[in-house]
Amino acid sequence: MQEIINLGIIGGGMMGREMASAAARWCHLVDFPVKPVVTSVASRTEKSCRWFTDNISSVRFASADYRRLLERSDVDAVYCAVPHNLHRQIYVDVIRSGRHLLGEKPFGMDAADNKAILDALIEHPSVTARCVSQFPFFPGAQRIVRAIRENRFGRIIEVEAGFLHGSDLDPEKPINWKRIVETNGEYGCMGDLGMHVLHVPLRFGWYPAAVHAVLSNIRPERKNSTGEWVTCDTWDNATLLIEVKAPAGSFPMTLKFQRIAPGETNTWYLNVIGDRYSARFSLKQPRTLRTLSYEPGGPQAWMHEDLGYASVYPAITGGIFEFGFADAVQQMLGAFLHRVHVGQSAEVPFDCATPEETRLHHSILTAALQSHKERKVVAL
Ligand SMILES: NC(=O)c1ccc[n+]([C@@H]2O[C@H](COP(=O)([O-])OP(=O)(O)OC[C@H]3O[C@@H](n4cnc5c(N)ncnc54)[C@H](O)[C@@H]3O)[C@@H](O)[C@H]2O)c1
Repeated sequence: MQEIINLGIIGGGMMGREMASAAARWCHLVDFPVKPVVTSVASRTEKSCRWFTDNISSVRFASADYRRLLERSDVDAVYCAVPHNLHRQIYVDVIRSGRHLLGEKPFGMDAADNKAILDALIEHPSVTARCVSQFPFFPGAQRIVRAIRENRFGRIIEVEAGFLHGSDLDPEKPINWKRIVETNGEYGCMGDLGMHVLHVPLRFGWYPAAVHAVLSNIRPERKNSTGEWVTCDTWDNATLLIEVKAPAGSFPMTLKFQRIAPGETNTWYLNVIGDRYSARFSLKQPRTLRTLSYEPGGPQAWMHEDLGYASVYPAITGGIFEFGFADAVQQMLGAFLHRVHVGQSAEVPFDCATPEETRLHHSILTAALQSHKERKVVAL
């Protein structure tokens, strides 16, 4: 029998709608042990609530006040997608209410907020909490994950990971909460893009011994909704050069979080280069995995493979078809619900980002801010 998990959504913006849509087409997954039913939404504006009541037939409660959603008996778990300055208060309240939490990144606007959320989890061990990071659910990324688990790379020579957006190149693009330190946080682009990039490296223990960061604010002003030029004080781009200490030998890891990357719409990538095996995956070519297997003295030839719909959890889509953003979001929601279903210690095929991984990512981003400010390499 499929377990029903009643889901409340707090924050009915872009991601809130995306998650509700993923839950609404749950018939897409085959023999999945759990089913989400979105019963409630809490979002600041009436318009954002109305999208849910108009489009999701299972929604029977909508409010501007998330505390009212947390009083309801038909909410078992909460997906929360609100501006970063609200993560601490709302995530802590969700945890204290005993509801399981799938929280958006960066899981607290800064390290102090993240600690407050993790402290609430320690006080409520029956709550399962995970942080969103859906791109590692793409089939190409999963093939790299599998190759790392199987130790196929030999000695790792280098890792490159990043997330590149180009739309902020347009100086006329209006400012929004993600471009203001007060609401997005001091991390700027790193808080917005960082967890996506660090999820896989942290899963495999590639934690830095030292961080050197260069940050840039390329568009220090943007127009507001009334057309006035106002300060845009967040970092647009960040490049981090990291030293990872591994048992087989240290290696460099270069991380890029960029909102001003000309020509890039939404390019998440992961390249792992080893002396026995190398793999490159990028959303620029989302169905293609490039790999190079090397035997000493043998040829060094990259192979390009079309992957099709090879999802973590089986789905009705035929294996030759393309996997996309909405599929990655649904697979990740599946991984969260699967985790809730089986409990904290059981195996799942690929876990969403854990609270501990969010803590480690905050320590890296905090070190990056210090590195740039003091123009020095920061040891961790
Ligand atoms: N996983 C991803 O790919 C991805 C992509 C974009 C954003 N995000 C993350 O999702 C979160 C939200 O981003 P978004 O792009 O959906 O933002 P958004 O601006 O589109 O939506 C935010 C929503 O929060 C609501 N809100 C504001 N204050 C509220 C409150 N006190 N109570 C309830 N609702 C409130 C707003 O009305 C709005 O509907 C952020 O943490 C962001 O980093 C994740």
